[in-house]
Order: sequence, then C-alpha cells, then structure tokens
Amino acid sequence: MKKFYQLTAEERLETLDLSEPMKAFFTRHQSEESKQLIENYISDYRLPEGVLRNLQVDGKLYQVPMVTEEPSVVAAANNGASIANKGNGFKTTQVGEAVLGGQILFEGVHQKDLADFVAEHVDEIFQRAKDAKPSMVERGDGLEAVQVEELDQNRAVVNLTVNTGKAMGANAMNTILEAVKTVFSSYEKEIVGAILSNAGHDAVVTVETSVPVSAVGGLEAAKKIESLSTFGQVSPDRAVTENKGIFNGLAAVVMASGNDYRAVEAAGHAFASRSGQYRSLSRWSLSEDAEFLNGKIEMPLNIGVLGGAIAALPMAQKNLELLGNPSVEELKSVLLATGLANNLAALKAVSGRGIQSGHMKMQARTIAVQAGATGDEIQAVADQLIYRKHIDQKTAEEILGAMKNDTQN
Ligand code: MEV
Repeated sequence: MKKFYQLTAEERLETLDLSEPMKAFFTRHQSEESKQLIENYISDYRLPEGVLRNLQVDGKLYQVPMVTEEPSVVAAANNGASIANKGNGFKTTQVGEAVLGGQILFEGVHQKDLADFVAEHVDEIFQRAKDAKPSMVERGDGLEAVQVEELDQNRAVVNLTVNTGKAMGANAMNTILEAVKTVFSSYEKEIVGAILSNAGHDAVVTVETSVPVSAVGGLEAAKKIESLSTFGQVSPDRAVTENKGIFNGLAAVVMASGNDYRAVEAAGHAFASRSGQYRSLSRWSLSEDAEFLNGKIEMPLNIGVLGGAIAALPMAQKNLELLGNPSVEELKSVLLATGLANNLAALKAVSGRGIQSGHMKMQARTIAVQAGATGDEIQAVADQLIYRKHIDQKTAEEILGAMKNDTQN
C-alpha cells in the first residue's frame, strides 16, 4: 500500500474521508506548482495581496506587493509611506553583505587544536566548498572565510561565511557545510551538527527617513511619537508590540517576494536582543531644530531575488516584476522601508487617537463577510457598521437581515 506522501492530492483527500463539499473546496484551490512544493499537499491556502503605492527609497518609487491577512496592514504602510514622501522618502545608509553564516558544531574538542587543524587544512576546506557548488564560484560567490570560535571549555564552532550573491542561499550553504564537514573526518565523533545560521551578523541593513514634523500633525504629535519610541527601548513588552508592527509590513513583503519570513523574523528578534535586552528595531527622534522627525531601522536581512521558493512560486516572480526586478540590495532596502513605514503609521496612531478607529473601519468589511454578506452587500454592511459605530458581528447580521428583507419586499 502506498504511503500518504506517495498519494496524489486527490487520493489524499479521499483518504481523509471528507464530505463531498469539503473535497470539492480543497480541490478547487489546488494548483500544479504547489503540488511539487511540499509533502502531503492537499490544497493552496490563499492570502490577500495588496499594494503599497509609491514607496520612495533612495530616490526611486516602488509599487510594493504585500501579502497579509491583517486588515489594517496595507493601509498603515500606505499611510506611513505617504508621510515619509512629504520628506524625501527613505534612504539606505548601510547595505549589509549578501553573506550567510554556517556552523559546524563540535563538542569535546579544544578550540586551539581545532584552530590548528583548520589552519592546516584551509586549502582543502575551500576546495571542498568549491567542488560542492562550482556554479557559485564561477559567479564570483561562494565560501569567503573560515573561522574558529570557542563557545566554552567543551564546545567550539567552525564558522563558514558564504557569499550567496542574488540568492538567499540556504540550500547552497547547507550543501557546502556538509561537504566541508568531510574534511574533519578525524573529528567525526565530535561533530554534533552542521547547519547554516540565520543570525545574519554581516548582513545588517539600515534604512532612515527624515519627515517634516508638519507631516505627522505638528510638533506636539512628533514629540509624542518620539516619546513612544523611547518606550520601545526601555520596555521589552512594548518593544515586542512595536516590532510586531514593523514585521506587519516587512514580513508581508518578504512573503510576497517568495522569501523566508521565519528566517527574517528570527534574525530580527535576535538582533533586537543584541544588547542583552529586547528592544525595538527602530528609533524615532526629533532633529535638533525640531523641524524633522528622524526615524531609523536596522536589522540583518538574508534574502534573495532568485532561487529557493522564488523559482517555484509564479506569484513571487510576478511580484518581483511588479517591484521592477530589484537587485538584492534594493529589495532589502524596500523591505526595511516598508517596515519603517508601518512603524511610523503605528506610532502616530498609538500616540494619537489610538488604532481602533482605523482598525475597526478595516475590520468592518471582514465582519460583514463573517455575517454572511457577499458581493455589493459587503461594503454596504461595512458602511452601516461604521455609521452606527457598532462594529460587531451581531450588528452586521441585523443590518444584513434588514437589507435582505428590504430587497424581498
Ligand atoms: C498592530 O498590528 C500593530 C501595532 O500594535 C504596532 C504598535 O503598537 O507599534 C499597532
């Protein structure tokens, strides 16, 4: 008998013993591309995609695809970007390298012995790395550095640094690591594992913006944004929420571009804790003359514009086209600028009249759908909910019921 993973998507749905409508629903949402992508595939889970219009980064305007389920995220990004455009938009001040780290983890070895071994075998290490990924080396990418790090008395790491070029390079890195590992055959017993690191120490990118205070509602409003921003530096609980708001935008673009949002977020959160305390990834402060509100975001980004899931996801390829086929460096700047745009909109709302009014307006359409509204009814119910200032499902059901009654009479 075939194992579940060996079945076709249709056979899997049969095996799951689902009702006909359930089977039909899952089948309707299948796609050929996705069938090859993961194990035990049954269907595609779709998420909405919206556009952030005219994000200005380093003097260039981008139309930015965002994939998210949260109603207010695209609106917040557009709001933040249009405020930044009242200045000169966003500017990249640190590009970061397209390098990925990898670790071979040793237990029960002395760091000095390991360092001596690496020094003696360095040519062989580079040769194995080259043989594992010759195409990378031909493009001028590949292994750049090998370094031994002592963790404690009993543990040490051989760190590899690989230039991944236009790709994120996770697979390439792991292939190289496994090839290089074979050089250490006399240490075989001590190797606990070999895997890339998502930390991205050398891939830190910085994006800044300088917004006229008038664009955020004047000096008082700008001062409140500055004050709120300091809470993200001193209260880890506030920092978590602020970074969540940053990732609302950033991860939505990471996702739209077919990149690995878990890797980006893990690196971001680790970077946010680099001082020993978890802090916001952004800082906002008034300029000395109090004319501008200056914002800055900084974090590692290991992403790519080709390879990995991008090669298998037509939507990701089209989204990169929508972005104007950016270079890796450009995409990094766009990602951080979007995160900072969302952050600005959130800080402005939270330190101003709160987020609920804007959020609930966006939520009204979702609630209308939950109440059973379809087609034109959705906006009509949402408008009524906003008008009545009662944005909840019960009210939506009442409004919908009344509407249907009216049409029947
Ligand atoms: C909501 O999804 C995100 C915010 O909570 C972010 C923040 O508080 O900075 C508004």
